[in-house]
Amino acid sequence: MKNLPRFSARVALLAASLLATAPAAFSADKPATLKDAFKDYFAMGVAINQNQFTGKDTNGMALIVAQYNAISPENVMKWQVIHPRPGAEGYDFKAADAYVEFGEKHHLLIVGHTLAWHNQTPAWVFRADDGRSLEGTNEADRQILLGRLHEHIQTVVGRYKGRIKVWDVVNEALNDSSSEADTEVLRRQSPWVRILGQEFIEKAFQWAHEADPDCILRYNDYSIENGPKRKRLITLIKSLQAKNIPVMAIGSQTHANLVWPGVELEDEALTDIASLGLPIHITELDVNASAAGQRNQSADVAQNSHAGGGAVSSAEQKGAEQYGRLFSVFLKHRKDIKLVTLWGLTDRDSWRGVNAKALLFDGNWQPKPAFESVINETKSAGAAK
Ligand code: GLA
Repeated sequence: MKNLPRFSARVALLAASLLATAPAAFSADKPATLKDAFKDYFAMGVAINQNQFTGKDTNGMALIVAQYNAISPENVMKWQVIHPRPGAEGYDFKAADAYVEFGEKHHLLIVGHTLAWHNQTPAWVFRADDGRSLEGTNEADRQILLGRLHEHIQTVVGRYKGRIKVWDVVNEALNDSSSEADTEVLRRQSPWVRILGQEFIEKAFQWAHEADPDCILRYNDYSIENGPKRKRLITLIKSLQAKNIPVMAIGSQTHANLVWPGVELEDEALTDIASLGLPIHITELDVNASAAGQRNQSADVAQNSHAGGGAVSSAEQKGAEQYGRLFSVFLKHRKDIKLVTLWGLTDRDSWRGVNAKALLFDGNWQPKPAFESVINETKSAGAAK
């Protein structure tokens, strides 16, 4: 952990090896695939579920292998699934092991998601025991909580050392407020923040680095396109860098809708985030085309997950246009972007619900207009090379 440049060298190496192992070039007489079309720019990933990586969903499994060269686990590595009960006996690695084996079998870049998050984490993690608690509450005190975090990270990262190449170490720790005047950097409602403050982030990265020194460690959050939250991101990451904490990549979730983020905002955000000198990964891309999903994205994404009101009119067309706009900006920033991951394979798998028409393939595993639109962007990018 002494010299930060080592991290960048490792990231560059990984990017180079991804590009080197990418399949044959995109050509007009061959049906396009995402991994071929983007092979000169960045890796293309997808968040996958248990039915897909165990082969119960045979079409889904085949589509993942045909189209993508990177995978993220939608749910199976979240704390509540992988470590449902306290202590060394409290882990359940069955699904996570199958996910990693699937990735290895198909030579995919395997991402781990996620080590420290306030959601999908069992209540016992934050509860007092042994009569020790945070003063006046029944919440765990600093020592208990740090102990649990350490054991969790050491165990989980250690188990997949050398196999998982990128870990989301900390997820969504930033204060979400859209007010410029709110200068609090971290999310007040998170028990991690309440009990440990910024220390949980620092320790999480250090322990993950100790458990697997070759793994790319990512800070991941949503709506960091928005000015006030982006400012807090920059403040947080600079403060980690000043302490030589091994944060090695920024994950921008990019849960979008039909109008947000627009081209200018996305361009400005990526320019700003790149100033941190770290590679950028777009980690959870989807475009919500539901009527209820069209308000501005400043609140917690978890609050607007459903496709209320059905899809807007001409949803497929509008979704395709927004995907095209977003990929045009990603390609413009290809020097800094190393990976773009879609948050789900088909509209039927999406956390947004099927009516949000949020992804590149429909419920019958067929490419949608959005797929064509994304592939088309590489043609103009290729011409501009
Ligand atoms: C967040 C998390 C993901 C997923 C999505 C929506 O962005 O990082 O794991 O839960 O919400 O499902």
